[in-house]
Amino acid sequence: MRQPLVAGNWKMNGSTDSITALVDGIKAGIDAVTTAEMVVCPPYVYIPQVAAMLQGSAVSYGAQDVSDQESGAFTGEVAPGMLADIGCKYAIVGHSERRSLYGENDAFTARKFAAARKAGLVPVLCVGELLEEREEGITEQVVARQLDAVISLEGIAALGAAVIAYEPVWAIGTGKTASPEQAQEVHAFIRGKLAGFDRAVADKVRILYGGSMNAGNAAQLLSMPDIDGGLIGGASLKPADFLAIGVAANA
Ligand code: 13P
Repeated sequence: MRQPLVAGNWKMNGSTDSITALVDGIKAGIDAVTTAEMVVCPPYVYIPQVAAMLQGSAVSYGAQDVSDQESGAFTGEVAPGMLADIGCKYAIVGHSERRSLYGENDAFTARKFAAARKAGLVPVLCVGELLEEREEGITEQVVARQLDAVISLEGIAALGAAVIAYEPVWAIGTGKTASPEQAQEVHAFIRGKLAGFDRAVADKVRILYGGSMNAGNAAQLLSMPDIDGGLIGGASLKPADFLAIGVAANA
């Protein structure tokens, strides 16, 4: 059985005060989440604050991005070893906002994936198609290409120790969620593709859905056989909503 994983991607939101309230709220209600692993991904600068607040709690934390480089003259970058050093467990790589707004391509994303793994972080590899790609009927080709970039650099076994997040770009921040069937179809495609390389890896890897998942639609999405959790944007900024998604994953 794959343990469900519910991760909050806070994106570029928050302040010392609002994050204090958010983490306090999550901690206060976390006992209601009995099955899922809960993770928060704050903006870099707030990770130490969140780490201190989460000490002794079951909630883990990660980063929203990571450098592909280990150290050196890379102004503005944050190395995977630094994130591991401050206790991060996860690092998101290849989020669609990185891909579309900052021009990060498949090869660069694969290098970030590799660097994160090398530092002992668990990469959360985001994949997903644009609206026009879905309309063109090439969703599977796009997702396959995004996965192949990582598989060819790192090998299939590396995926077994990672997390994949399927985030259809047209569903992110739009309030337009993929239907459980639409999401399941792509999740099953991803798992099937991995199984073509290695059945054990395919059975083990957790595939999260992301894109306007909220307290109201989480249970249905999470009931699908290949949806192992969620990568949550907007709803992860409200403790009650984030917790409700965690509760929806209770066994
Ligand atoms: P929303 O939940 O706000 O649609 O964001 C999803 C997302 O991009 C998580 O990484």
